[in-house]
Amino acid sequence: MPEVRVVNLTKKFGNIVALDNVNLVIHDKEYFSLLGPSGCGKTTLLRLIAGLIEPDSGEIYIGGKRVDNVPPEDREIGFVFQTFALFPHMTVWENVNYGPRVKNFDLKAAGTIGHEVLELVKLHERLNAYPNELSGGMMQRIAVARALAAGAKTLLLDEPLGQLDAKVRNEIRYEMRRMAKDLNLTAIHVTHDQAEAMSISDRIAVMKKGKIVQVGTPQELYMKPNSLFVAYFIGESNFLEGSVVEAKDSELVIELRGGDKVKVFGEGLKKGERAVVVVRPEVFMVEQKKQGENVLKGTVEKISFEGTFVRYEIKLRSEDSVVVIRPSLTEKWFEVGAGITLSFEPEKAHVFPYPETSLAEELSV
Ligand SMILES: Nc1ncnc2c1ncn2[C@@H]1O[C@H](COP(=O)(O)OP(=O)(O)O)[C@@H](O)[C@H]1O
Ligand SMILES: [Mg+2]
Repeated sequence: MPEVRVVNLTKKFGNIVALDNVNLVIHDKEYFSLLGPSGCGKTTLLRLIAGLIEPDSGEIYIGGKRVDNVPPEDREIGFVFQTFALFPHMTVWENVNYGPRVKNFDLKAAGTIGHEVLELVKLHERLNAYPNELSGGMMQRIAVARALAAGAKTLLLDEPLGQLDAKVRNEIRYEMRRMAKDLNLTAIHVTHDQAEAMSISDRIAVMKKGKIVQVGTPQELYMKPNSLFVAYFIGESNFLEGSVVEAKDSELVIELRGGDKVKVFGEGLKKGERAVVVVRPEVFMVEQKKQGENVLKGTVEKISFEGTFVRYEIKLRSEDSVVVIRPSLTEKWFEVGAGITLSFEPEKAHVFPYPETSLAEELSV
């Protein structure tokens, strides 16, 4: 149930800075995700909160209490691993009651808790089954039940759906959220899968190379990415390089590499500076405007039908860059090789200064 707060947290492994001065508050009863590419420090942060490893510097608070010197078993957290880590030779019942038994809880009370949590995760009728007789989704729920029986009020989930196949994963991710919400838990869910994080989280922290880049609701991250990296990592984006040729307050005109000019709104950019314009695929309109502001002409290079929408790759005529668009299925169809005219509204694009290194380097994971 508690709030989890980390202050100036740093963890190094030899020369590797796994976590670089991280500050974060996870609210009471929040379903929170740590999202980022492999190696960005997600597991390290989770293990620090759990007390499985010690920080080099910084502070950790759970429920307002500093826990840096509190052993893991007294932090009232439950850790659910990707592999579930169930004991294969123990039944569901024995797995769930393992925590209370090793902690010397009153066994009668522990038994009652065991029944309660198994009811909660809807697996009461399987209490005599062994883990290998259960589906991945069921093992997942047992792992959660076991954490709860051991007194967890905060659930730490490290890629908890990673072992499951795609279809099951999509079903179960909502289940994880439902369980945490029904039980009034604070949950911290680690994943590298942005679709998973977006669909189940109250808020998400996007991480890159040991740092937190942005924290926000899924909508905020998608609609208002604070950086090229977040625009790249959350959803799909098109990146158009250019330079500022006019700047009047936040209204900018960017000349793209191929010479097309586009109007966008953005802060902190001056005339003459290099910039990157970000346009989401669904923001492009097709054949709505033939000329004027923010019109780009191109040729259809590739089409993929993805169920609820069509994804086109369009090679822009004025430069060699390829943009992705996703018009609705009800719109006119285009064949490969067809000419196409795209346009977008300035308010719906984002613009960032060109990175100090390079765009490729900035987006590399
Ligand atoms: N026990 C360890 N010893 C050495 N390096 C480690 C150890 N644990 C993690 N690292 C390194 O720290 C960085 C962050 O790792 P990790 O937190 O596991 O990332 P993630 O969970 O986001 O994939 C990586 O570069 C990883 O190789
Ligand atoms: Mg990890």
